[in-house]
Amino acid sequence: MTARRRGTDGRANKRKAESGIKKVKRQTLKQDAQAKRAAAAMRARKAEFAHHPSPNIRGGDPNLPAKRAEDSQLRLSLVMNPILANPLGNVHGGEIMKLVDETGGFCAMKHARNVTVTVAMDSMTFLSPVHVGSLLTLHASVNWVGRTSMEVGVRVEAENVVTGQVTHTNSAYLVYVALDQFGQPSPVPPLRIETEAENRRWEAGAARQAHRLKQANKKAEVA
Ligand SMILES: CC(C)(COP(=O)(O)OP(=O)(O)OC[C@H]1O[C@@H](n2cnc3c(N)ncnc32)[C@H](O)[C@@H]1OP(=O)(O)O)[C@@H](O)C(=O)NCCC(=O)NCCS
Repeated sequence: MTARRRGTDGRANKRKAESGIKKVKRQTLKQDAQAKRAAAAMRARKAEFAHHPSPNIRGGDPNLPAKRAEDSQLRLSLVMNPILANPLGNVHGGEIMKLVDETGGFCAMKHARNVTVTVAMDSMTFLSPVHVGSLLTLHASVNWVGRTSMEVGVRVEAENVVTGQVTHTNSAYLVYVALDQFGQPSPVPPLRIETEAENRRWEAGAARQAHRLKQANKKAEVA
């Protein structure tokens, strides 16, 4: 190869390398711009969700009408038939957990007016056995609302309908997420806090949710 030819090849290679560097720089700038636009959109969205006309209207999508906890509260009573029993003759704990999840889920769906899935269930303690033949009543109420998630508290009581004795058997906190038609998390209505008890439940629910997200290694964004 002649010295002239080598020089021509060298210049061509240099031009090729420079053009490659320019292409990478253009792509990087494009990605930076996309990331900045996404971050700005996220900030705008957060600001929008953070803004509510009243401090008693909390969480959820401010463009949706706020709902009271009372609007979605649910009370479900069922007779504990022998088919639900464990080998000891008491109602199987798993049956009660299923009922707790179902009742909480319907309460969350009533608040969201949307389908929901259970994303978390806190530990559940069985305070006393539920006897076959008793009337089990589950009370569910929304405590706290995030953007797409809701914490529902469920209290379980067993009644001996002959004696009238009512026993508190369990309480549990569950988190549900509303989903859109594509199965993606979907914003829920804000919660209107009306009483001091509801305010206490909100604060406690927010603290529990922050703890859950920490445990799940998720960045906590709890109002
Ligand atoms: C629920 C699900 C859609 C959430 O998906 P994801 O990728 O975590 O979505 P996101 O990160 O956007 O979280 C959505 C919401 O869930 C909350 N969340 C996520 N993981 C959570 C956890 N471990 N505990 C409590 N809340 C949680 C987030 O904080 C967020 O709430 P916010 O919008 O109010 O801030 C997904 O985890 C899922 O499909 N899980 C399976 C649900 C299921 O099958 N359940 C059993 C049958 S019903």
